[in-house]
Amino acid sequence: MKLRLLDHLVCPIDKSRLELVQWEASSVKLSAEELGRIERVGLEPALFSTEITTGLLLNRTKKIFYPIHQGIPRMLVFPTGVARYFAEKHAERIARELPGFTLPQEKAMSGEETVLRTFSSEWVNYDWDEGSYWNLTHDVMYKSMNFMLNLSRRPVKDKLILEVGIGIGGSADYMARRAECELVGMDLSYADDPAYMHFGTNPFLHIVQGSAFAPQFRENTFDLVYSQGVLHHTFSTKSAFDQICKLPKLGGRLYVWVYNPHDDQRTLIRRAIMLMETVIRPLCCRLPASLQTVALLPLLPLYLIHQNFLAGRNGSPRIKYGLREAMHAARDRFTPRFAHRHTEEEVCRWFR
Ligand SMILES: C[S@@+](CC[C@H](N)C(=O)[O-])C[C@H]1O[C@@H](n2cnc3c(N)ncnc32)[C@H](O)[C@@H]1O
Repeated sequence: MKLRLLDHLVCPIDKSRLELVQWEASSVKLSAEELGRIERVGLEPALFSTEITTGLLLNRTKKIFYPIHQGIPRMLVFPTGVARYFAEKHAERIARELPGFTLPQEKAMSGEETVLRTFSSEWVNYDWDEGSYWNLTHDVMYKSMNFMLNLSRRPVKDKLILEVGIGIGGSADYMARRAECELVGMDLSYADDPAYMHFGTNPFLHIVQGSAFAPQFRENTFDLVYSQGVLHHTFSTKSAFDQICKLPKLGGRLYVWVYNPHDDQRTLIRRAIMLMETVIRPLCCRLPASLQTVALLPLLPLYLIHQNFLAGRNGSPRIKYGLREAMHAARDRFTPRFAHRHTEEEVCRWFR
């Protein structure tokens, strides 16, 4: 966690400012270009070059702490494996230096723990290598992000951006570098860990583990908030939307991309896949990760044939799938607890 992130974070429970307790930190060397960017916005370089790898964020009034573990602030308000691990590992020091402080003990939103578990398996087992980003090459993916966020007409240079649900973090890293913005990437799952491993050295990208349902930011904060393929994977897309729509500042922008029902009806193959999803997903999401892998193995040849021989015949550039990509795509389709569909008209109404 860069020191700078402290300026943006608040307690997700009562929105109060947090106090940093720094236990382990390192200093990252900034390039001339990075120093130039920081100077341009009039901030101290140390805010971006100080990386806190272990520590705590305190809410003194509530006597709770959020761990900073392996460089990532863990801001979920309900008990998680990583927070418990941190509390046990540092129990003696916490008791000595911060007597009476505990982890937050709020209730998770409906199904949130399952969502955390399935998406963690989806991303932690998928090692980023730039070869593929979903079913596209990474540069095509970035071009489409540029287009969807309308970056050429609404540039975000030196602005503060939030991505809700960063997954493996490739788009977030790209945005922060190419669009020259400061970007906070938040995700519920342990996708944050591979994202941090691959992109954590980018001084303008902050990675946080948190949930759209309990945002760890003040309202009216960001110039742009975007979320791609995330909200429909929560128990209620609209409730998640209602939370994140408070985060852009006045005159700021909000972009969300969610599944729509028409896409699944466009071709015979898509209808067949949708039918399979309706049957398999509710069962598969409840299995432990290893059994999910076993259950999905028979589907992999279908993904390989479709992606490698049938898709992209209309000239659109497609990447070839190996087993890794096929398993990732199958997990994304068949393991999420929720995958709601929404029409364009419905989503437009949410914005009004
Ligand atoms: C299909 S992935 C999309 C990731 C990324 N946006 C992309 O396009 O590659 C959905 C992501 O949403 C995250 N997610 C689901 N529920 C969330 C929530 N309540 N808050 C934040 N992230 C959430 C999951 O952990 C997962 O990484």
